[in-house]
Amino acid sequence: MVQGIVNWSTELNEEWLQNYVDDWVAFYRKHTKDGEVASYIPKLQEANPHHLGITIIGNNGLEISSGDVEIPFTIQSISKVISFIVACMERGVSYVLDRVDVEPTGEAFNSIMHIEMNQVKKPFNPFVNAGAITITSMLNGNTSDEKLASILNMLEKMLGYRPVLDVDIYESERDSSMRNRAIGYYLLETGLLESDLNITLETYFKQCSIEISVHDLAKIGLILANDGFDPQRNEEIIPRQIARITKALMLTCGMYDASGKFATYVGVPAKSGVSGGIIAVAPPRVRDEAMPFLSGCGIGVFGPSLDDKGNSVAGIRLLRHIASQWDLSIF
Ligand code: DON
Repeated sequence: MVQGIVNWSTELNEEWLQNYVDDWVAFYRKHTKDGEVASYIPKLQEANPHHLGITIIGNNGLEISSGDVEIPFTIQSISKVISFIVACMERGVSYVLDRVDVEPTGEAFNSIMHIEMNQVKKPFNPFVNAGAITITSMLNGNTSDEKLASILNMLEKMLGYRPVLDVDIYESERDSSMRNRAIGYYLLETGLLESDLNITLETYFKQCSIEISVHDLAKIGLILANDGFDPQRNEEIIPRQIARITKALMLTCGMYDASGKFATYVGVPAKSGVSGGIIAVAPPRVRDEAMPFLSGCGIGVFGPSLDDKGNSVAGIRLLRHIASQWDLSIF
């Protein structure tokens, strides 16, 4: 059933869609062996590499979940989407974009080389660590807990509950953070940080350690698919301009140095994290034929076995398959 494009006009029944997604998850679970769980943060290494789960929440009210959707995991780099949105809402878009650029790097997320080699006046984008740490330094608050509260407040608005930290991951991240500290010192030297270095780094480690589920990721994706509007609660959560800039950044920089391939082969804004989470955003599409989730959806994926770029190996392949079956691409 995994091979071949299905005629979806006859398969739009919810139970059938569920069966298809179950089959695809079972098939791509085998691909988890092609990657490895993150090990540079010791506690992340305890994740089960065979886990794979997905939740899709549609604008039409349809929700499909399959695989390991009950396993909580830490948000990691996906928190950079939230901190960017919050900084733009607190400081204004032009203030933030005067200080952090919107260009892809083609380098690893935690590269120091590219900022030094290019003698940058501002970090390349909010989703590489240099940019994300700069963004975190802009958040309101004088302590790391106050700054973190800005991020948790936004997540609470989006999800309808206040997520908590995974303290073990936070401590492990903090205690193995040599590279992020090096990036922080570089930013300090170049005058890019807006808050005390230690407070900024503490906030960054905490924001990466927020515990989340695939359902949460799908819900955030749904809000972004609607330009910042939550269709389930009929409420604007993010101003439209900020939601659109965020999606442009997700498309161009969200999957790190694999963003070009993801845009080409999957074709939707997305953001990954090293614990194996991915948010994908499928806005409403105009198509001649009937297709599942034509009116748009948010997708959350969890698969901790990563490829060499730090993205979920089976998660990307599963998304690529779904995007091609359901013609999700925005292009
Ligand atoms: O900065 C770090 O090392 C992590 N806590 C977050 C990295 C991350 O998720 C990058 N993802 N692909």
